[in-house]
Amino acid sequence: MKKNKEIEQYINHLEKQPKGFLYEEKKDNLSQIKMLYQPYRNCTKCPLGQLGRTQVVFGEGNPNSNLMFIGEGPGRNEDKQGHPFVGRAGQVFDKIIEAMNIKRDEIWISNVVKCRPPNNRVPLPQESSKCTELMLFREIEIIKPKIICTLGATATQALLGPNAKLSQVRGQIQKYKKTLVVPTYHPAYLLRNPAQKKKVWQDMQQILKILKI
Ligand code: URA
Repeated sequence: MKKNKEIEQYINHLEKQPKGFLYEEKKDNLSQIKMLYQPYRNCTKCPLGQLGRTQVVFGEGNPNSNLMFIGEGPGRNEDKQGHPFVGRAGQVFDKIIEAMNIKRDEIWISNVVKCRPPNNRVPLPQESSKCTELMLFREIEIIKPKIICTLGATATQALLGPNAKLSQVRGQIQKYKKTLVVPTYHPAYLLRNPAQKKKVWQDMQQILKILKI
């Protein structure tokens, strides 16, 4: 079946689900996530482990959620506090989900790399691929969200491949294995380009529609 047709059918299927299935209490994924992260508390499997990070910043939120957001990697504040999206970009992120009427404890929030790259540089391909193989892809396997929203180019490429251009794939729902992917702009990009907020809001409305929230 052609990819677009398959995605369309899956969206139709999700839209027929009962209202408000943002998370499902019956799934118990917390212990699996804890087990997954346990060996990586002091991870040095890629160079970022030795390039000045303070701590590993794991994903957090509701591990039973049907909606997952993925960013690039921890910045200065995240590295200090040990939580994803708590700096300036995090404040923008909070506004986005507030507008969606969603709380942090209803979604899963994670990053491509779990350690802060020096001076907030973009993670190198070998850092991203090592970290996603060890953690992010396994988080997705455990949580099995219905929708993943990738925030920015790094997260989008981690799931859709290195040739995926955000400017080309944004605005159209994509797929990573069995999960729908909604690529959108990174909150930090919105700080520099507030005019793009409109497009992000369009993307969020698509998510709300599909999940019937
Ligand atoms: N930017 C990201 O991509 N992730 C964070 O956790 C914070 C800022």
